[in-house]
Amino acid sequence: MTILNDLKQKINQRKAKLAVIGLGYVGLPVAAMLADAGFDVIGVEIKTDRVEKINASILPMEGHEPGMQELLSKVISGGKLSATPLYDDLADRDVILIDVETPVTFKDLSGGAAPNGGGQRSLNVCDINAVACKSGAIGSHRKHGQPGDLL
Ligand SMILES: NC(=O)c1ccc[n+]([C@@H]2O[C@H](COP(=O)([O-])OP(=O)(O)OC[C@H]3O[C@@H](n4cnc5c(N)ncnc54)[C@H](O)[C@@H]3O)[C@@H](O)[C@H]2O)c1
Repeated sequence: MTILNDLKQKINQRKAKLAVIGLGYVGLPVAAMLADAGFDVIGVEIKTDRVEKINASILPMEGHEPGMQELLSKVISGGKLSATPLYDDLADRDVILIDVETPVTFKDLSGGAAPNGGGQRSLNVCDINAVACKSGAIGSHRKHGQPGDLL
């Protein structure tokens, strides 16, 4: 069986071990929903206060997030999701998702000539330095022989 088929079978059987890097507005719901779907999920988060809150089933987000508190409590108490600040814990994961911030910058395309003085603004490229750094950090914690399954 190829590595890919093996991984596919593990995913279909909910036996794949998953990790989500960055437990923010995207990463935490994704991690919780995957855990609720039956996967063993760890979330790696650099903010230790956030890690502690999540492991205590305390929603670390501001704003109205309908259903998130109930979902978090369910997957934490059920042992399907746990948060950690340690990249070492990635060693046995089959699939790793990166959900860290990718800040964008804006560029004035008008050269200051726009009548309102503010100039026409256009979205510039995303800053993917954080993602690139994380990819390197994750790679160094993978076991030799694991598939290149970084998502
Ligand atoms: N929030 C949205 O509505 C939304 C919508 C579409 C796409 N996105 C994209 O999703 C991605 C994540 O956005 P978000 O809103 O969840 O960001 P966020 O700032 O809410 O969360 C990012 C999390 O990653 C953590 N983090 C940063 N560096 C880390 C590292 N080295 N190791 C572990 N954790 C680390 C941060 O502490 C933070 O908790 C971004 O690329 C964003 O553009 C977000």
